[in-house]
Amino acid sequence: MKIGDTMKKIYDYDLGGKKVIIRVDFNVPIKDGVITDDNRIKKSLKTINYALEKGAKVLLLSHLGRVKEESDLAKNDLSPVAKRLEELLGRKVTFINATRGEEVENALNDNDLVLLQNTRYEDLDGEKESKNDPELGAYWASLGDLYINDAFGTSHRAHASNVGIASHLPSGIGFLVEKELDNIMPVLENPERPFTVILGGSKVSDKIGVIENLIDKADNLLIGGGMAYTFLKSKGENIGKSLVEDDKIDYCIDLLKKSDRIIIPKDHKCAKNIESSECYVKDVMDDDDIALDIGPKTVEEFKDVIRNSKTIIWNGPLGMFENPLYKTGTEEICKTFTKDQTVIVGGGDSASAVINLGYKDNVTHISTGGGASLELLEGKVLPGISSISE
Ligand code: 3PG
Repeated sequence: MKIGDTMKKIYDYDLGGKKVIIRVDFNVPIKDGVITDDNRIKKSLKTINYALEKGAKVLLLSHLGRVKEESDLAKNDLSPVAKRLEELLGRKVTFINATRGEEVENALNDNDLVLLQNTRYEDLDGEKESKNDPELGAYWASLGDLYINDAFGTSHRAHASNVGIASHLPSGIGFLVEKELDNIMPVLENPERPFTVILGGSKVSDKIGVIENLIDKADNLLIGGGMAYTFLKSKGENIGKSLVEDDKIDYCIDLLKKSDRIIIPKDHKCAKNIESSECYVKDVMDDDDIALDIGPKTVEEFKDVIRNSKTIIWNGPLGMFENPLYKTGTEEICKTFTKDQTVIVGGGDSASAVINLGYKDNVTHISTGGGASLELLEGKVLPGISSISE
């Protein structure tokens, strides 16, 4: 059975006159009260607009950051998101600075569109949200008639505001979640070949689940980013002062023995330290080199493989792309994708690399979920999705 196929969707319900609770993922970066990336808010508009057009009253729930102590409350205040949402929708969004109480319970009586304060404010007292406290899930469910999960980015969590509410109400997925599943699942289940997986980012340990799930399905596994240097060290190469996870060396040795589909960098763009403005390319590193991007020969080799692929899944940048000196590997890969390929980019750093370098139109789908897309690629069932009505 494919995830999502038998699952209820928002459009399977008659929403007229209903109170609809929509779990969105408004966990967006905010600096000094200013949202620095509103992509997740924009991506949620379709579901919100649809529910309102169909005559529903909408209660939005989202988390923001992590709330462990009093000082986390102010910095994870959702009110800037309410303002941005209001601008994007061009209509009033009533923000309730509470997660429970009379004001919350009456909010939908006089308003059509309400956003409650950060659901993780409930974590301050016994992690009620994050531990899926049954009383809290039941309480939030009592505020509506129907629950819609449109928070793909949070679907790997089993929290009160998703799994908890879903256990009390008829439920469905929104357009954002449907689009994520429609794009990612077919590629995992039946990719058109050749199928290439590109992995980057700093740690092998973060990607072991994905490697294990995809190593036998993929025709090629291209490895770049900091994680590549644990692989190179496992082959006995000098990696200088580059990133390494020594406790994963044996894993890399075994993997390279087991599979001949893995390609690791053969040259490296290095510096003496990450602040330095001087960089140089080396095939063989010395003790004081740090590799910060893949080198030109590796770029060409990766591009050849990509040109010959029909399906590509990419998770993790290939270098320290935030610094223009080390964006080349990541950028050249972005430029190589063509319209007749299916290219799926996992969320988090790889998503911001593709968007910030200006190549979002070169790929088929950029996930809004970092951890959630990673868990899907690992072959895991996401509790926020599996708890939705069939
Ligand atoms: C994310 O940004 O990956 C999601 O919003 C989940 O956030 P979390 O890792 O704090 O649960």
